[in-house]
Amino acid sequence: MNIFDYIGTQFRKPTGFWGNVSTLIMNIINRNQYKAVEKVLELKQDENVLDIGFGNGFIIKKLSDKYKSSFYGIDISEDMVKIAQKKNPTAKLSQGDVNNLNFSENFFEKIYTMNTVYFWSDLSKGLEEIFRVLKDNGVFINSIKSKEFLNKLPITRNNFEKYTVKELVKASENCGFSVEVKPFSKDREYCIICRKVRKLNG
Ligand SMILES: C[S@@+](CC[C@H](N)C(=O)[O-])C[C@H]1O[C@@H](n2cnc3c(N)ncnc32)[C@H](O)[C@@H]1O
Repeated sequence: MNIFDYIGTQFRKPTGFWGNVSTLIMNIINRNQYKAVEKVLELKQDENVLDIGFGNGFIIKKLSDKYKSSFYGIDISEDMVKIAQKKNPTAKLSQGDVNNLNFSENFFEKIYTMNTVYFWSDLSKGLEEIFRVLKDNGVFINSIKSKEFLNKLPITRNNFEKYTVKELVKASENCGFSVEVKPFSKDREYCIICRKVRKLNG
């Protein structure tokens, strides 16, 4: 495996020493994304909030220092769960896959994920699970880097499933979400804002 593919595997599932290093680098290169997500999330106090694929838990720490909500998270990497839990002792973090969320229906007011959708094994299944555990009128923020930008990076040649914004919007609408797109960082990054709009009877 060449060095670029190795880094790609660490972004996909950070593990061990180099996994730790990779997530520290992410904390630097993703800082605009963290700010954009915080803005569009519009967190209030006393909400149930889920981070999918939290990495080293940097953003959970930032948000939970500001908002007195209940923070939950799942990540596929056991090593990341350990590191993030240390940083966030009161958050409820566990190892898990977006395809199979171990939460009851209609539980979260807010769900977000940053730079993880490229690694999901089944996009529709992941979105369906998020839709299921989100409350009516709840919001899911899917924050991504554009396909055009990712295509320029050698680390994304393997290990990454790159989607266009249009593809993600369509997949989210197919699951029942009402979708709005917010670009930031000169169209290099996007927040795909998915609302679970309550359906009126009849
Ligand atoms: C590129 S890192 C992003 C970390 C953090 N969200 C950020 O933007 O700084 C991707 C994270 O998603 C996790 N991940 C990958 N596939 C996942 C899946 N199917 N379900 C849950 N987490 C997943 C990885 O373990 C890793 O921590």
